[in-house]
Amino acid sequence: KRVAVFASGSGSNLQVLLDKAKNDELGGAVIELVVSDKPEAKAVERAKQAGVPCLALVPKEFADKAAYEERIVRELKQREIDFIVLAGYMRLCGPILLEAYGGRIINLHPSLLPAFPGKDAIGQALAYGVKYTGVTVHFVDEGMDTGPIIAQEPVKIHDHETKEELTRRVQEVEHRLLPQVLIDWVEGRIHVDGRVVIYENRRG
Ligand code: GRF
Repeated sequence: KRVAVFASGSGSNLQVLLDKAKNDELGGAVIELVVSDKPEAKAVERAKQAGVPCLALVPKEFADKAAYEERIVRELKQREIDFIVLAGYMRLCGPILLEAYGGRIINLHPSLLPAFPGKDAIGQALAYGVKYTGVTVHFVDEGMDTGPIIAQEPVKIHDHETKEELTRRVQEVEHRLLPQVLIDWVEGRIHVDGRVVIYENRRG
């Protein structure tokens, strides 16, 4: 399957996917395109380094969100993209993208949803004082981190843990969980039944 990865930031998750693809460890997934809303993001640099085409756009330069997403969808269609992975893409998907790719977009989020949606989920978890947080991979709908949950993994929060340290440990889990879900998804082992996701023969 032909996959596009959307990223706005450092792109460490993107890098894991690119490295695995290079080593032929991404099953039936091929990363055909990286999309970014931040041309200066490190993720864009990583795509270039890996020789993967990158569409880096400045949303403000478009008349509105619809026009911005139409540009993206045009590129996705041209490249015959089947699936989209949001890996640190800091924007909500609007109607144009969801009409074209609804049910074919997954997102990675650094908390056990539905706890701590939105920005700075790790900071939110620390401030709340929960003893466990974690990582969620879920399908994307029009809400903020609200779509059907595919996979979750808990991370125990240690006493006096700094945000940096917890972030490092959460990212370790992300780097393991995202590729695993992507492989299982493109290989047809993940199905949605209303809000509930059926995950057959999960590896790992
Ligand atoms: C990850 O923590 C992801 O869960 C969140 O944004 C972060 C992206 O990190 N949505 P990176 O850009 O992959 O390093």
